[in-house]
Amino acid sequence: MSKDVNKKIEQLREQIREHDYLYYVLSQPKISDQEYDKLFAELKELENEHPELITPDSPTQRVSGQPLEGFETVRHSVAMLSMDNTYNAEELKAFDERIKKQLGHDDYDYVVELKIDGLAISLRYENGKLVTGATRGNGETGDNVTANIRTIKNIPLRLRNNINIPDILEVRGEIYMPTSSFTELNRLKAEAGEPLFANPRNAAAGSLKLLDANITKTRNLSFFAYATGEISEPLADNHFDCLEKFKQFGLPINPNITKAKDIDEVMGICLSWDKRRSELDYQIDGMVIKINNLAQRDILGSTGRAPRWCISYKFAAEQAETKVESIDVQVGKTGILTPVANLTPVLLAGTTVKRASLHNFDMLAKLDVREGDTVIIEKAGEIIPQVVKVIEKASESSSAFEIPKACPICGSEVKKDEDGVYIRCINPECKGQLKEKLKYFAGRGQMDIENLGEALIEQLVKHELVKNFADLYKLKRRDIVGLERMGEISAGKVINAIKASKTRPLWRFIAALGIRHIGGQTAQVLTENYDSLDKVMNATEEELAEIDQIGPIVAKSIFEYFHDEKNISIINQLLDDEKFNLEKPAPVNSKKSTGLTAVVTGTLEKFTREEAKEQLKLKGYKVTSTVSKKTSLLVAGKNPGSKLDKANALGIKVVDEQGFLDILGS
Ligand code: IVH
Repeated sequence: MSKDVNKKIEQLREQIREHDYLYYVLSQPKISDQEYDKLFAELKELENEHPELITPDSPTQRVSGQPLEGFETVRHSVAMLSMDNTYNAEELKAFDERIKKQLGHDDYDYVVELKIDGLAISLRYENGKLVTGATRGNGETGDNVTANIRTIKNIPLRLRNNINIPDILEVRGEIYMPTSSFTELNRLKAEAGEPLFANPRNAAAGSLKLLDANITKTRNLSFFAYATGEISEPLADNHFDCLEKFKQFGLPINPNITKAKDIDEVMGICLSWDKRRSELDYQIDGMVIKINNLAQRDILGSTGRAPRWCISYKFAAEQAETKVESIDVQVGKTGILTPVANLTPVLLAGTTVKRASLHNFDMLAKLDVREGDTVIIEKAGEIIPQVVKVIEKASESSSAFEIPKACPICGSEVKKDEDGVYIRCINPECKGQLKEKLKYFAGRGQMDIENLGEALIEQLVKHELVKNFADLYKLKRRDIVGLERMGEISAGKVINAIKASKTRPLWRFIAALGIRHIGGQTAQVLTENYDSLDKVMNATEEELAEIDQIGPIVAKSIFEYFHDEKNISIINQLLDDEKFNLEKPAPVNSKKSTGLTAVVTGTLEKFTREEAKEQLKLKGYKVTSTVSKKTSLLVAGKNPGSKLDKANALGIKVVDEQGFLDILGS
């Protein structure tokens, strides 16, 4: 029986790997996402029933274990060198002259690749299995980021085994975040009031260096392979064919790689990509030009710092010249004042730009941007255009932009953050903040109130029809009929849409409150640990901080929000309305509740923590993250930490992995 199951499991894994290959490497999926998900679910179910058959290279095993304390250091068996740069045709030609001179002839060709603006990584495969993923670090040693690397979907955990694969194969390449994912990540961060990433490269690096792989998994990182490190036998005698081999092994390579016979052809390719770079959904900061023949590379050697057989051609950042028509100060939902330049519209990297961020008042003063000035704006890695410098002053007599001493919307006092650069309006009743808070509350990721747009919110706030989000739910049709562009029918739609939002799940409601540092993701973590708003509101700061993925700063922010009298009074107005969804519904297919509560801690061998929790829920346990008097069972894997001590102190039943398997089997 178990043999048949094992066979079936292996078959499913093979099928899934093949579909991964078709999807990620060849970009030619043969089945729909739903069909793929079905295969995956089938494998997961069999593995859940037979945890003893789970192997680390199974496609289900991308995230496992607990957050790390820190990264171990890995020594690169072959150093990861840097690359020399060129910035124009002359420098590129000079590079070609050096090659010609050193080789003593001109019988060589180049491979031209995009220079992906991410971070370099080295993947070590032993017998076709991914064993280590390490960052470049200082070139000699880097950080062991294997747990995070494993979450990247287009990196195979196991290479395709239909051809000979060297026993040891180190693959080097670039980890990057697609531009669209970066924009979305920053949108979510902005909504949660968290600091933004400056560009996709920083976002990729930040995501890869998180200690909790569960978060890295949500960051949609991706990979392109472009070089080898240590290798037990050669793959081919030239680079282009090596890349072809990579592809056959199931490793993703960039689709825009070309051979070029001489430096003029190389230059043509570089110029053409400089113009076309905005077509791509990832950032490139130039091109990489490599000698194709590996024996010729050996002759050329390296300087110790960088190989002599390759060079980059760096693009200039995309810039445009335009005029600052005016400077506005915006007030965000947490009161931050941001200076923004309104520009004469100008085309830059494929989009028309009308506004550019000036970040904060320190930056504004440093650049000394004034209304009427002609400025250079830039979209380097950054997606939001920035003002780089002033190239022409409006006039000798123009005056510097003054840092507001009062909120431009409500006129009340502003304060500079103690440890930061932001200036905030500290009036909790500020209409500017209220508008932003309501916009956020009604926004797509939160309560999703379809007919409640910016223009209507403006009017509701202006006419003092709404002073907080509880007021939204008290609005009657007659209150809003007669506002600009608001007839009977549209007013009815708005009121219905507001009413309909009462049934949004609890986590969306929590996210919608706009608590500092709490976006949708953290709100979901909260509702996984507390099944009603009441319980979240009554949680202590210590209890909150003990939840995985919630740190002390976030815990403090949640606690303070729910202990502020004004906030409590607003929420209480909603708690009285029973249509509001302030309880979390029980999962649909969970067994009848046993009334028992379990906590999982430490590393289990056969399960990720999430999987173990799922199993317990299926057994009818309520799963929480903190050990308390109410806990009935603690499942403790390796390195259980303080939860085990606490459980022992409270006399709670503790089982190890075997005990856990016994419970599942019973
Ligand atoms: S080959 C000796 N190919 O650029 C270096 N690197 O500025 C061999 N990069 O550290 C690397 N795209 O992170 C190579 N197609 C590509 C690349 C690429 C981006 C990065 C890489 C390297 C950096 C040097």
